[in-house]
Amino acid sequence: MTIIVTGGAGFIGSNFVFHMLNKYPDYRIICLDCLTYAGNLSTLEPVMDNPNFRFVKESITDRAAVEKLFEEEHPDMVVNFAAESHVDRSIENPQVFLDTNIIGTSVLMDACRKYGIKRYHQVSTDEVYGDLPLDRPDLFFTETTPIHTSSPYSSSKAGADLLVLAYHRTYGLPVTISRCSNNYGPYHFPEKLIPLMIINALHDKPLPVYGEGLNVRDWLYVEDHCKAIDLVIHNGRVGEVYNIGGHNEMRNIDIVKLICKELGKPESLITYVTDRKGHDMRYAIDPTKIHNELGWLPETMFADGIKKTIKWYLDNESWWEPIVSGEYQNYYEKMYANR
Ligand code: NAD
Ligand code: DAU
Repeated sequence: MTIIVTGGAGFIGSNFVFHMLNKYPDYRIICLDCLTYAGNLSTLEPVMDNPNFRFVKESITDRAAVEKLFEEEHPDMVVNFAAESHVDRSIENPQVFLDTNIIGTSVLMDACRKYGIKRYHQVSTDEVYGDLPLDRPDLFFTETTPIHTSSPYSSSKAGADLLVLAYHRTYGLPVTISRCSNNYGPYHFPEKLIPLMIINALHDKPLPVYGEGLNVRDWLYVEDHCKAIDLVIHNGRVGEVYNIGGHNEMRNIDIVKLICKELGKPESLITYVTDRKGHDMRYAIDPTKIHNELGWLPETMFADGIKKTIKWYLDNESWWEPIVSGEYQNYYEKMYANR
């Protein structure tokens, strides 16, 4: 089995590469990643010498490069993680989100059509469903919840999902889609809530909570997401969408307070800042379908996962320090200085 994993130098993609090489030692895994600010080759160092692994630095939007890779590798599957993934950046500059998330997806699927494929899997997000109100805890996203996006990021992901389903219906491409809730764990880029708060707290810097911090996210440990995708690509039904989430809803402010507590830092570091434009209130996944059809259940409870994650950041400063001391500083200044 040869699998092209796009975006494998990012947060979830790298965890997926590790999971697959570990679980299927006879599979060939090719990581296709153009190394944007969010891609980090040092993450993949532990597998670089594995004879069953290959890293290719190209963009999924580059048709010639993608076709060349298909001609060289004859992949059985493509798992597409490659994306611009940060909502705040999409609010600043939507264009690159459309290029990567929509055009890139179509380029990959065109190659799949041209050269043949057993499975094209699109890694999507619960954000395509928009948000849920805080006063209706009985409501959850199911696979039939209408697409109703809020940000340029989620709209670009929804656009890609619609294209994937269209390629299935129109061309018979054997596709699956998974829509997961918020992930956390090792190699999470420091611009996102949990690593940003851990790293700022370690430096005794202000912890910038958007609005009142009452927004709710449904957190899942990244390994559980990888295991779910593994099940979907092997046993999921072609043409289907699978929601992934572990019923672990938390308010942002409670996460930040928990991080303070775990690190022994004062809550006085918490600073309420101007809210995100169009900020989604609540995400909550109903994972009944993937549980009933594929037997998936999350294995890592949040109380353990957050401890493991904090420990990982404490033990792996050599991974995040070069990030936060580089170009990221300009980003941070731009986004937070006058917020
Ligand atoms: P990330 O930003 O950490 O990593 C994205 C990776 O894609 C990087 O390595 C980057 O270099 C690469 N990339 C970007 N543009 C590319 C291009 N044109 N060609 C090739 N590679 C490119 O993202 P992540 O958080 O790991 O998310 C991975 C996928 O999972 C995304 O599709 C995202 O929408 C989806 N998702 C993320 C979450 C989450 O909580 N992080 C939850 C649900 C779904
Ligand atoms: O739900 C899945 C999505 O989760 C993925 O599709 C996205 O790729 C991923 O980035 C994530 O999106 P969010 O916008 O939910 O994640 P983020 O970590 O940016 O923010 C989580 C919450 O924390 C959100 O309500 C905004 C808030 N926040 C975030 C940052 C960076 C803050 O209050 N302060 C901050 O500094």
